[in-house]
Amino acid sequence: MTPIYQTSTYVQEAPGKNKGFEYARSQNPTRKALEEALAAIENGKFGLAFSSGVAATDAVIKLLEPGDEVIAASDMYGGTYRLFTKVFEKFGIKFLYTDTTNTENIKKLVTPQTKLIWLETPTNPLMNITDIQAAAAIAKEAKALLCVDNTFASPYLQNPLDLGADIVMHSSTKYLGGHSDVIQGALVMNDVELREKLYFIQKSCGAVPGPMDCFLVLRGIKTLHVRMQQHCLNGEKIAHWLRKNPAVEKVYWPGFEDQPGYAIATKQMRGFGGMISFTLKDDSIGNAMRVLSSTHLFSLAESLGGVESLINHPASMTHASIPREERLKNGLTDSLIRLSVGIEDADDLIADLDRAIG
Ligand SMILES: Cc1ncc(COP(=O)(O)O)c(C=O)c1O
Repeated sequence: MTPIYQTSTYVQEAPGKNKGFEYARSQNPTRKALEEALAAIENGKFGLAFSSGVAATDAVIKLLEPGDEVIAASDMYGGTYRLFTKVFEKFGIKFLYTDTTNTENIKKLVTPQTKLIWLETPTNPLMNITDIQAAAAIAKEAKALLCVDNTFASPYLQNPLDLGADIVMHSSTKYLGGHSDVIQGALVMNDVELREKLYFIQKSCGAVPGPMDCFLVLRGIKTLHVRMQQHCLNGEKIAHWLRKNPAVEKVYWPGFEDQPGYAIATKQMRGFGGMISFTLKDDSIGNAMRVLSSTHLFSLAESLGGVESLINHPASMTHASIPREERLKNGLTDSLIRLSVGIEDADDLIADLDRAIG
């Protein structure tokens, strides 16, 4: 097993002559092993691990200068939106949001100041799909970077670098860790200069994960493929069951053939995962709250991607930092319920939802 190098510093041979490691903010052997694993599973050359997913996103935005423009998806994780609007806008970086599922919308926003296109696909929580290859072509023409948040798909189901992205970002907290016991983030890239710039930001800003957390994500990665297979099987069963339930209005899951993003999803993903959102026919907040409070196997909690099933209310939990009008504009209603389907027995999970939905 990779040892947990619980070290802040390393003995050096002579001043200026070290054995490959100087100080643990810059390098740690457990983190190095993880970063190599991250690169391998994303078909990339270089991996960098961060103390959280948002710390990884933060590092990407720190590549930019005041006056630079970012084109981002209007439907994405609330914490990413909060970081962009509440932290970086005041430093003079301009964020332009659009429905990226139609890549023509991205094209229309490109200016000479566009330096980064930020995608999330599938999106959290509405499972919208954006064509990574088409977005990569637009980024290339604009001489901008394309970064894809691949948290929902995981590297088992989708590899954005293979489709032309410059950087892949992960909240490793989710499927990579897989057991709801660690907060961590990751970036993977191919370009050596980009790696050097991001490594400089990583060590200068210091948002690095501890060695124990690196060990946990390394261990999670070893079972990623088997966990994802079960997440996909359970997700498919539950999505179809929900669709047939007379009390359910709309189900968001990228595997439905009549879903607008289906053709692109099948082109760029190897499976549809275990994330599902849905609304109820009685679309009142009260009814949604009743369901959210009555499941037993689905625990009411933020986060996703662990072996245990979770139920979540995006409007008040994971996406509370997005202003209500913005949320509603993008289809994220007050009564939307999100499921992170775990790897338990699918029939037990369905029985739990059946009891709760009533
Ligand atoms: C799609 C997505 N990206 C990024 C993040 C942020 O990651 P972290 O919570 O590890 O900082 C999350 C967290 O929920 C997420 O769902």
